[in-house]
Amino acid sequence: MHVAMNIWVTLLIVPLLYQTATSWNPCCSYPCQNGGFCLTMGLQEYVCDCTGTGYYGGQCEHVTFMQRLRRLLKPNPETLHHLLVNYKWLWSIINSVTFLSDSLMTFVYLLRSNAVDSPPLYTSAHEYITLEASYNLSYYARGLPAVPTDCPTPMGIKGKRVLPDPKIVVERLFKRTVFKPEPMHSSLLLAYFAQHFIHQFFKTDHQKGPGFQWGGHGVDVSHVYGKNKHVENLLRSFQDGKLKTQVLNNEEYPPYQADVPGVPMTWMGQVADNNKFALGHQFFGMMPGLFLYATIWMREHNRVCDELRRVHPEWDDERLFQTGKLIIQGETIKIVIEDYVQHLSNYHFLVTFKPELLHTEVFQYQNRIAAEFDHMYRWHPLMPDEFNISGVVYPIMEFIFKSDLVVKYGTKVFTDSLSRQIAGQMTARNHGFLTQSVALDTIENGRKLRFQPYNNYRKNLDFPHTKFSELTDDPEVAATLEELYGDIDGVEFYAGLLSEKRRENNMFGALVIEMGGPFSVKGLMSTPICSPRYWKPSTFGGDVGFNIVKTASLEKLFCKNIPGDECPLISFVVPPENIPSSEKCENCKNDEL
Ligand code: HEM
Ligand SMILES: *[C@@H]1O[C@H](CO)[C@@H](O)[C@H](O)[C@H]1NC(C)=O
Ligand SMILES: *[C@@H]1O[C@H](CO)[C@@H](O)[C@H](O)[C@H]1NC(C)=O
Repeated sequence: MHVAMNIWVTLLIVPLLYQTATSWNPCCSYPCQNGGFCLTMGLQEYVCDCTGTGYYGGQCEHVTFMQRLRRLLKPNPETLHHLLVNYKWLWSIINSVTFLSDSLMTFVYLLRSNAVDSPPLYTSAHEYITLEASYNLSYYARGLPAVPTDCPTPMGIKGKRVLPDPKIVVERLFKRTVFKPEPMHSSLLLAYFAQHFIHQFFKTDHQKGPGFQWGGHGVDVSHVYGKNKHVENLLRSFQDGKLKTQVLNNEEYPPYQADVPGVPMTWMGQVADNNKFALGHQFFGMMPGLFLYATIWMREHNRVCDELRRVHPEWDDERLFQTGKLIIQGETIKIVIEDYVQHLSNYHFLVTFKPELLHTEVFQYQNRIAAEFDHMYRWHPLMPDEFNISGVVYPIMEFIFKSDLVVKYGTKVFTDSLSRQIAGQMTARNHGFLTQSVALDTIENGRKLRFQPYNNYRKNLDFPHTKFSELTDDPEVAATLEELYGDIDGVEFYAGLLSEKRRENNMFGALVIEMGGPFSVKGLMSTPICSPRYWKPSTFGGDVGFNIVKTASLEKLFCKNIPGDECPLISFVVPPENIPSSEKCENCKNDEL
């Protein structure tokens, strides 16, 4: 009896034990530190490749002398942030001395963009380097490679064996119970600027899967001109370089979709024909704020064509159009850096768009959008549940797919209203009901993409958390995270990102800035027009065009394209008189006004 059982035990248990001892990949514990690459050698062994990291040793744990020096010189991200959002007097001196501000701006460009792999190393299909990562543009790149498939937990070896039901994550971490206003008092004009700008390059190809995309990997202005030549041609008038327009209520707007058949637009449910416009991006009929930006950029393109034609009566439609498009790309980048990034960063240091600063540096003019960047930029908490247009309050369900509200109120009143309404705070438990399904989708896709845990992205930037109470200062959110994920190293990417405590004088948690900063600087400065052989007056039709680019601003963009003598309020910050008195203002911009 005993013998027989022992044989059974040997036959059954031993192979099982052997299985568990070797069935997971030793790289699941992320043994290689400081950016070293974990290479398995057989089933149970690994080596760390520390090449180029400045570290050495079996786990890249020892720092080289040079790297120690570099670390001493390189400021800690929290210290640097603290410096940049305080000491206003110091920054006003630095800002006024061109030599100082240019040197610092060059440093910022390089510090940020050097953090991005260029060319990209990984896609979601392989957790090691492949040539496909570099050549197959259908893939999003990856900031960090995927968690190996053969690990004991979805996050590697830490955290729970089974992640919480995504619906529970949404219910307990994302769902808005009360609207939390954005503490820096960012306006809806800002929220829509963000949404309009980013959809030109965040284009997940849902047919192929969450690791794939159908865009051009950067600031290619395809959101204004259409996703390809076919759509672009449909949107063009082929006269004087201009885009097609129509006049409604004495203002110029994009044409109705019915008048330019073939422009792909996505509609949901019943949408009236007078709400169906033909726009550069198929989602832009969804939100009147996006339609406003689409209208303003269309008008700006046509305005620029008029300016060009004045100095180039000899040019044909094609050349006016193509040069106009280059100018629009330049203006976009100028406004993104000097108005939008300036606002998001909240630095007292004035960030500037000066491509020439990189012309004497080592810099790669190529860009690839990473899947983590796409997820990180899902800023749906910015959206409120209702919209106040000129005193009339529209619940979100009466607002979506209603582009004709912009026509009804006019671009002037609409812009003014968006400038006076406060956006929502980027934080836990602040997703309105309409975007909770997007959050659900984001969590599910993050798992399909096998994103490394949230804390690995912080480790990679040298500032990991050790406990939940460091991640967030809301004890309830900390307790929920702990209950759902068990271990600080077991928290999934998007859940950690959205739960993070807000950084000093800022809209976001630290990881959004430290991860988003590099991807965004790299994306903006690596566009072709920034390269040494493009960045010159003749590319933009001479000094007239070059100056339009170099002096572009959000204010001018709207002001020059809104009819009437007086401009509306055009602002990424809600002015004090429109802040409800219930809103206490801590550390926000208005305090300093
Ligand atoms: C009420 C306003 C908004 C609604 C209704 C909305 C809705 C959606 C929907 C339905 C998707 C597609 C979800 C999916 O892939 O399954 C999406 C994706 C996305 N949204 Fe929003 N959104 C809004 C505002 C914003 C804002 C303000 C931002 C950021 C500034 C933003 C950033 C994104 C990003 C980055 C994606 C992923 C795009 C992609 O991968 O193709 N959204 N949103
Ligand atoms: C890119 O990869 C996808 C998925 O493997 C494949 O379907 C597609 O054909 C590839 N594209 C190119 C250009 O190789
Ligand atoms: C709507 O906004 C206007 C300012 O544009 C403000 O005077 C009014 O009080 C707001 N109404 C509501 C209900 O919030």
